[in-house]
Amino acid sequence: MLVGFMGAGKSSVGKLLAAELGLPFVDTDALIEERAGASIQRIFAASGERGFRREEKAAIKEVLAGPDAVVALGGGALQDPTVRALVQAETVVHLDVELEEAMSRIGTGTGRPMLQQDPTDLYQQRDPVYRAVGKFTVATRGSTPHEIAKVIAERLESW
Ligand code: S3P
Repeated sequence: MLVGFMGAGKSSVGKLLAAELGLPFVDTDALIEERAGASIQRIFAASGERGFRREEKAAIKEVLAGPDAVVALGGGALQDPTVRALVQAETVVHLDVELEEAMSRIGTGTGRPMLQQDPTDLYQQRDPVYRAVGKFTVATRGSTPHEIAKVIAERLESW
């Protein structure tokens, strides 16, 4: 399971890691959109952040009850104490990205409603949580998603 701030590369690395490990890949954001039949942006607009978090928690529970997979969690999922408790037994990997780098990867932030606010507070609040929940942290700076997926696969092998 991959955690980290928006723009850490959870989806791109997750897909490659899943291929490397021969496991399916699940992106909880994509699952939420599929279940709701609406984009994340629309879910936020219709039900607010609270509504989105409710959907997110349900999707995470569903994924954890399902078959083994590489799972990319949305950057805000760990704010919820139930989600934190649920993922405790999982092999959680933290993809570390500096805020500046994350923002430059994200660009205009379209489709990420949480970026309507200043991301600095969010980042400072969340970074220690990713580190605490992650079994280990992988730096992403200066590496391609392929390289990062390889590093994670190697670390998991010796796990
Ligand atoms: C969010 C991150 C997004 C998505 C939603 C809320 C957040 O996922 O779940 O827009 O609160 O940080 P990514 O981390 O994949 O961008």
